[in-house]
Amino acid sequence: MKALVTYYSATGNTEKLARAIYEALEIEKELKSIKDMQNVKGYDIIFCGFPVRAHSVPGPATSFIKGLPEGQKVAFFSTHGSLRGGQLPKQAFEHAFSLASKAKVVGHFGCRGKVDSKLIDTLMQKPEHQAWAEEALSAEGHPDQHDLADGKKFAAEMIRKLFQ
Ligand SMILES: Cc1cc2nc3c(=O)[nH]c(=O)nc-3n(C[C@H](O)[C@H](O)[C@H](O)COP(=O)(O)O)c2cc1C
Repeated sequence: MKALVTYYSATGNTEKLARAIYEALEIEKELKSIKDMQNVKGYDIIFCGFPVRAHSVPGPATSFIKGLPEGQKVAFFSTHGSLRGGQLPKQAFEHAFSLASKAKVVGHFGCRGKVDSKLIDTLMQKPEHQAWAEEALSAEGHPDQHDLADGKKFAAEMIRKLFQ
């Protein structure tokens, strides 16, 4: 059994979550930035992480997900400024599922990630960003220890699923 944890992260939030997921895995495993990924053959499961951008999946993660081989088991994780479990981050996951049409999605997990307050002020002026940017004001300090602990539980659950 071999797992890959791969991620795109601009400011380090998703990378933190990726490292927590990686630590929780008790099988053979690799941790790599999505930018360093060339060959995705030979993994029983791929954990693929990205920050939500404009309610969707950022470019580098989009290309990687589209290129997943047929039948590849994949579990998505993401960080986002908006509230956990809300409708806004759900849209990005749904987009990831549609990009992964050939792969087999086994689960997903999302938690909040802080956003620079100056950036929030700027984005709040743009109608397409206003909704999530307002929610993101309270994302300071995330991902926190609880988020990372939940990410670890998610990782363990995905591995249990592989053995079922
Ligand atoms: C340009 C830009 C667009 C973003 N769009 C969204 C969004 O639509 N919804 C949301 O919840 N968070 C959004 N965010 C917040 C990021 O998803 C969040 O800060 C994330 O934790 C960043 O992860 P990273 O540090 O791994 O890059 C956006 C951030 C940036 C910089």
